[in-house]
Order: sequence, then C-alpha cells, then structure tokens
Amino acid sequence: MLSPNVLDLKNHIEFAQTAEEIGIEYLFMAEGYDPGGPLVRAASVFDPWLYNPIIAAMLIPATKRIGLVTTMHFSYFAPIVIARLGANLDAMSGGRWGINMVTGPSNAPGLVPEPMRSLSHDARYDYATEAMDVILKLWRGEHVDYHGKYIELKGQLIDPLPVQQPPGIVSAGHSGAGRSFAAKFADYLFTTGGTKEQHDLEHEGLTDLLASYGRSPSDLKYQVRATTYVRDTQAEVDEFVERMESYFDPKVHESMVLQYGGEHQGKLKEMEQKQLDKMNAEARRRSATGMDFNLQGTPQHVADKIIDFYRQGRVQGIALVFQDWHPTELRQFGDKVMPLLKEEGIWVHPRERGYSW
Ligand SMILES: Cc1cc2nc3c(=O)[nH]c(=O)nc-3n(C[C@H](O)[C@H](O)[C@H](O)COP(=O)(O)O)c2cc1C
Repeated sequence: MLSPNVLDLKNHIEFAQTAEEIGIEYLFMAEGYDPGGPLVRAASVFDPWLYNPIIAAMLIPATKRIGLVTTMHFSYFAPIVIARLGANLDAMSGGRWGINMVTGPSNAPGLVPEPMRSLSHDARYDYATEAMDVILKLWRGEHVDYHGKYIELKGQLIDPLPVQQPPGIVSAGHSGAGRSFAAKFADYLFTTGGTKEQHDLEHEGLTDLLASYGRSPSDLKYQVRATTYVRDTQAEVDEFVERMESYFDPKVHESMVLQYGGEHQGKLKEMEQKQLDKMNAEARRRSATGMDFNLQGTPQHVADKIIDFYRQGRVQGIALVFQDWHPTELRQFGDKVMPLLKEEGIWVHPRERGYSW
C-alpha cells in the first residue's frame, strides 16, 4: 500500500517535522469537499481527507519554523470566519500561517450555500476581491464599515490579530479573473506545467497586471507543482513508475471523470472501447509520472532540472508533491538533492537566512 494512513495524526506530524528539518519553507495543504463516489472512496483517492485548519492547528505545536498554508474556499467560509481562523492560526504559530485562496466550489456546487452557488466563475472572483479587502482590514485590527456589491459588514475582529501583517497569501488562479485576483493580493502564484514556453506564456501580461495594483514582478513568486521521486539509480525510479502504473484502476478513473469533470466528462457513454482505452492509458501514465511536471530521477537529474528552471528566471519555487508522502521520500530529497542545489548557490536552508518566508 502506498502512502501513510491519512487519518493517523502521527503521520502528519512526522511528515511536517521531517520537512522542517530538511529545510522545506512551507507545507501546502490542499482542500476538497466532494467525495468521488464509492469506487473512488474504496481506492482512497482524495477521500478520506482531513480538514485543513484542523491539521494546521495540530501541526503548530509539533513544529517550530515551517510555514503552514491552508486552503480556504471563499464559497464555503464567510469573510469573518476566514479572518478569525487565519488570525488564530497565525498568532498561535508565531507568524507562520498562510492562506491559499480558492473561489470555486471544489467539484461540489450543490454543497455551496446560496447566493454563492449562483455566482458565475468571474463573479466569484469579484466577490473574493471584496472579501479579501475586508479580511485584510480586519486583520489590521481596523473597524470595518464595508458596503460592497456583495458584502455588507460592520465591526471589528476580536483579538488575537495575526502576527504577520498580512499573513502569507497564495493563489492558484489560472483564468483572467484568477490571475488578476492573484496579481492584486498574492505573494505566491501556484502553477502547473514545466516548459519555458508555458512559463513565458503565463508571465505574459502579469507584469502589467501587477503594476496596475502598484506591485512589482518580484512581489509575486511563481511556484510550480512537481511530482517528486528521487532514487540513486534510474532503475529504481523506473521500478517505482511501473509500480504506480500497476495501482491504476480504469474503473476508478472513469468514475472520477464522471464525478470531477475534465475534457472527457459527458462523453464517456458515447466513447468506443478504443477511445476509452486511450484515455485510461494516458491517465495511467499521468498517475505514475505526475500531472504535468515531474522531478522523478536520480539526485543529479532532479537537481539539474531544478537548476535549469531557476536559470530560466521564471520560477521562484517548487511545490514538491509526493505520491508516496512518507518522510523517507522527503529525506531522499533533503539528503541528496538539496546539497546539490546549495552547491549551485540557488538554495540555502531557511535557518541560514533567519527563517524568513
Ligand atoms: C497547485 C494547485 C493547487 C490547487 N489547490 C486547490 C485546492 O486545494 N482546492 C481547490 O478547490 N482548488 C485548488 N486548485 C484550483 C485553483 O484554485 C484554481 O481554481 C484553478 O487553477 C483554476 O483557475 P481559475 O479559478 O482562475 O479558473 C489548485 C490549483 C493548482 C494549480
């Protein structure tokens, strides 16, 4: 069986402590709402899933320095609740908390309360812009008297206020509205993809967008998600990829497509077996080698890929995703890849620069 039991809190603590020790800057906690159905649940794909603010609160006393980024959906949390949860998590962690701002319904529109459920994609970003304006004022301890298109709010946040002013802000917005929102508020922009061309395209217009909010390109750090697996020999890596492929179950994948969408949703019934096989074969490959960009290989290969990325000057950080999120995977990366990055002068342990974010 791959990966530790997600419901055993000891596993989260051990992973977080290992990440902190090897010098990872922050832990990013994704959040979902919709169970994928009986097959997906039986396969334990994103279900069960512990709630972000709860994991973060539990990790605070178990760690000392590492940043803790929780995902919060504006569709489910009222601004005052985000402000209060965030202020508590930041104050209790001594200024280590950050928010990943998500506006969508997380594949569960039926669970979103009205009026948020009826808002269009772009209107949700307008709403979130108002919400963020309000939250930032509340975090500063201001008395708010806000009359927006969507939000009416009067009052003040009860103490504690956040230590950081403001806490770290992350977005993975990709659309025009999402990028504009990120350009206004975010410190980190999460993205996918691994080629220079993709990153050039993503950066197009971003400098102007940032400037329109009085910000400079260095104010928004690009982070690329990378599926990661490091071993001393390529043969071991190939063996892992093969093992990952063997875990793939086409029926679970088809049920996820039906539930979560994507380009094939709504077409499954009409697809001929040949097309279904092709779709599943691609998904099988992706399940083993990662959604888009991967860091699977020997330490030198992985380090070279990262160094190349940095030389292109478009990406300021990498969000490592471990299909097997066991601490030994972190150690492989920490013991074998990080020293090579340090040698190259593109990485220093956070302790050597005072643990600033
Ligand atoms: C690295 C990464 C992490 C994300 N994490 C989450 C998450 O935890 N929960 C969620 O509902 N959406 C998540 N998203 C989806 C984004 O928030 C966003 O909705 C998506 O990239 C589409 O962009 P748009 O909202 O501008 O259309 C993530 C996306 C990326 C690329």
